Amino acid sequence: MAYRLFEGKKHASSYWKHRISPSDELIRQMLDFLEKRKGHPFELAVDVCCGSGQGTVRLAKHFASVVGTDVSPAQVEVALENAKEPNITYRQCVAEELPLADSSVDLVTAMSAFHWFDRPRFLHEAHRVLKPNGCLALINYTVNMELSYPDCCSDTLNQVCKEFYAALEPYRSPHLGPSSMELYREAYESIPYPDKDWQECVWVKRPMPLSSYMGLVETFSSYQALLREDPQKATTLSQDICQRLMSVMRVTSVETEVVVAVKYFYLLACKPQEA
Ligand SMILES: C[S@@+](CC[C@H](N)C(=O)[O-])C[C@H]1O[C@@H](n2cnc3c(N)ncnc32)[C@H](O)[C@@H]1O
Repeated sequence: MAYRLFEGKKHASSYWKHRISPSDELIRQMLDFLEKRKGHPFELAVDVCCGSGQGTVRLAKHFASVVGTDVSPAQVEVALENAKEPNITYRQCVAEELPLADSSVDLVTAMSAFHWFDRPRFLHEAHRVLKPNGCLALINYTVNMELSYPDCCSDTLNQVCKEFYAALEPYRSPHLGPSSMELYREAYESIPYPDKDWQECVWVKRPMPLSSYMGLVETFSSYQALLREDPQKATTLSQDICQRLMSVMRVTSVETEVVVAVKYFYLLACKPQEA
């Protein structure tokens, strides 16, 4: 069974504003893997569950065409509003039934999304659409992001962040199990391709205003679940955490820049020539 969340227009817009996409270095690792297996030309990439398209756009300059897909009309609408690259198209569809021909895709990506799918059905579908030697890239990051700010005790700052994550933990979807990394590791083990790669700790550091860090955590499904259940509690929690972070940083503006360290993990797998 697949899970349908993130579908409101407001949520989709905050995605575009706050959601992070993989770093250039991570994109390069994915493309290197593809280049070594399939080689050029890079004709078609499909970014499954593209949300508002912040990861999809990172693929545009590397492929002749890119298709972003998402089940949510609101997410696709926001992606289209922000689309500038002429070689990207967006399609509304489920991950488990892609409107693409057999053996037509060089690279299938799912960024921060695979954990929501009907995973066996999606892996089957990715296998169907991939060209021989085409590659699958499933990327995600853990929620326990770390903050740093000059002249401020990181431990104290991150203790407040940990309290934020702990307060959201009860609202985590049961579909994700206790650890999303485990879901990816299990998928890695279940993929029957001999040529595959698993990386479980790639730190990416991003400078951003404190307000964007707060906005990013507020896009998480657990925060959104709390917001649906008790809007007052969600807002108070977020405001309280933000105030406490500013107090540890000894600043008065929520636009003060912090550095957010995000721990990515990913799996890459190459569909064999004879499959
Ligand atoms: C956490 S967001 C990730 C969006 C984006 N890829 C990113 O990196 O931020 C998950 C997205 O997957 C979509 N989604 C979840 N399950 C889906 C499914 N089974 N089929 C298609 N889209 C799905 C949601 O609508 C949402 O836009």
